[in-house]
Amino acid sequence: MATMAQPAPRPRLKEWLNERLGLQGLAYAVPEHANSLPYILGGITLTGFVILFITGIYLAQFYHPHPPDAHQSVVYIITGAPLGDLIRSIHFWTAQIVTITLLLHMLRVLFTGSYKRPREINWYAGLGLLAITLGLVFTGSVLKFDQEGLEALQHNKEAAAVIGGLGAWFSPELSRTVPLLTRLFDGHVTILPLLFGLVIATHIFLIKQHGISPKVTPDATTRAMAGEGTSRFTVHLQRMLGFGLLILSLALVLSLLLPAPLGQPGVAGAEVTKPWWMFVWLFPAENALGVKGLLVVPAILGGLLALVPILDRSPFLSLSRRKALLISAALILIVIVASGVISTLQPVTGGHLMQP
Ligand code: HEM
Repeated sequence: MATMAQPAPRPRLKEWLNERLGLQGLAYAVPEHANSLPYILGGITLTGFVILFITGIYLAQFYHPHPPDAHQSVVYIITGAPLGDLIRSIHFWTAQIVTITLLLHMLRVLFTGSYKRPREINWYAGLGLLAITLGLVFTGSVLKFDQEGLEALQHNKEAAAVIGGLGAWFSPELSRTVPLLTRLFDGHVTILPLLFGLVIATHIFLIKQHGISPKVTPDATTRAMAGEGTSRFTVHLQRMLGFGLLILSLALVLSLLLPAPLGQPGVAGAEVTKPWWMFVWLFPAENALGVKGLLVVPAILGGLLALVPILDRSPFLSLSRRKALLISAALILIVIVASGVISTLQPVTGGHLMQP
């Protein structure tokens, strides 16, 4: 008598997804040190960006990027939109946290010599991400259109006037039909996120191509590491997502304790607020050189960062063999932090902004 064929057991969800998405391909080898906190900071920054994109899409449903309506639409987000105040505050706090993890990531790369051959181009992709992130922070701080936002916008106009043709996009004269605030919103929600997508794709592709840089030991030298190591990338991913949840929880707690602030609608021409901490360290440069200082100092710092892989081409990773570069970097960092602290403590003396 013929036996009835047993139906094939239904695959579990994990196997079903594996077969269709090839997820097992993510379990490639990575070195153990790649899973330590300093080497996950870039991944943590990335998960923070996911939170920013999701909360940002929600906020964009209620924000009105037209100068007469902008401030009032933020008031509506806080008082009328479902969970608006909370989502706005999570967006605000995650932006602060992500900027800190991004800077720590860059310092880690600098101090572990991870910009060396063959990772130089990825260092430049990273500099692109830094510029895009600062652009997102700046445009975001203008959008709320309170006194602080208006002052940032007026600094933007002055800086655009100083650089002439190169600053055309930042100038209100570029378009007769669309106000500058609306175009900065466009920059915040389309142009910069699109650029971010392109550059982060390149960044991640190159990390996969080269593998993480070798662990720093007294004699370690730089080389590609793809496919080497006793751990798995899936472990790295799990830790990255765990830290992502931690960022979300931290942003949530901060949002409940200290909701994102909003000042009164701006009064044009007055200078009575300070910019966010990401830019406040530039105050002494502005006092000394006027608005030119806001362009010259970041340009010099950007230039110095761009020179790093060109100046330091020795293959060695250890700190003791890269003393000159690291001491110079530490000194510059101390000056920036000291300038930030002094600027934060100083009263605002201004009132010299041009009328819009
Ligand atoms: C939005 C900003 C950024 C994101 C999301 C990001 C993301 C990442 C990720 C996920 C990694 C893998 C290792 C890790 O997680 O630490 C990495 C590595 C790297 N990043 Fe970034 N990064 C950003 C900005 C930067 C900046 C500003 C620089 C330097 C100027 C930079 C330079 C590098 C280099 C050279 C590597 C290879 C490091 C190694 O092999 O040890 N990145 N980045």
